[in-house]
Amino acid sequence: MISISSVIHLTKVLDVRHITYMSNSVVVVTGAGRGLGEAIALEVARQGSSVVLAGRSIEPLESVKSSIEMQGGRALVRVTDVTDSDSVAALFEDAENAFGRIDVLVNNAGIANRVNLVDLGEAEWDRIFDTNVRGMFLCSREAGRRFAIAGSGRAVNVASVFGLLGRPGYSAYCASKGAVINFTRSVAAEWARFGAQMNAVAPGYFATDINAELRADDAAMAKVMRRIPAYRMGTPDELANVVAYLALTAPDFLTGQTIAVDGGEASV
Ligand SMILES: NC(=O)c1ccc[n+]([C@@H]2O[C@H](COP(=O)([O-])OP(=O)(O)OC[C@H]3O[C@@H](n4cnc5c(N)ncnc54)[C@H](OP(=O)(O)O)[C@@H]3O)[C@@H](O)[C@H]2O)c1
Repeated sequence: MISISSVIHLTKVLDVRHITYMSNSVVVVTGAGRGLGEAIALEVARQGSSVVLAGRSIEPLESVKSSIEMQGGRALVRVTDVTDSDSVAALFEDAENAFGRIDVLVNNAGIANRVNLVDLGEAEWDRIFDTNVRGMFLCSREAGRRFAIAGSGRAVNVASVFGLLGRPGYSAYCASKGAVINFTRSVAAEWARFGAQMNAVAPGYFATDINAELRADDAAMAKVMRRIPAYRMGTPDELANVVAYLALTAPDFLTGQTIAVDGGEASV
């Protein structure tokens, strides 16, 4: 007969809690070199995934790869422009060649601008949509073709509370993130037929390069803080935890949803 004390001892030795959360998934993260993408890459690696780090600049990706490898994880760097279909196709081919399969895609790469509509140029509108919408489409199509054959797979799209709310000066960005949310619903309905899932997160404010200019403006920041019931910005690991949950441990029946991680901003 096994005593309670020996079970407790065994639990400690095996670190059962840790093992329960270990994943062997292969996860592609776009925009993984900094900001929220870096936090997501580090978190899924911490939970046992092999991570494919994609973005346009090689140095930050190499630095994230080193952090993952120093913690005993596995990572591959692939310089990728998500707006370019050849570059995206090469990313998925290289990832598959390196790790044998792809289980999860995190569509995180994104850009923002702040320009009133009357001053918004067509090239600027296209730049936002090319990255935030076309990039997500191209990567999801590559992943979906593989998920359909495998009969499984997950995608998590990084939208924004700006896709749920309107904000003056952000029409292109808000429209692009609204597109991410409704793309998520449509693709989830398609993929459910072959056993794959797509969900999204809608981050509120997190201190990254994307809002560096805003954070330098005290008056604008005071206004932002008044809109957030939690009266603070989120930390990247708070967002990364939710993405990792959707990517690795959520039930298959959860699909097509967008979870706001925003200190209550979109609830008021
Ligand atoms: N921070 C926030 O408060 C917040 C709030 C809501 C939503 N979001 C969303 O969260 C995501 C991550 O943003 P972040 O805050 O972490 O911003 P960030 O620090 O500026 O990071 C953006 C990432 O996207 C990559 N990227 C941009 N264009 C790309 C392209 N064409 N191809 C491949 N990679 C590209 C960048 O890498 P390279 O420049 O090297 O390519 C970078 O790694 C975005 O989708 C953003 O809209 C952020």
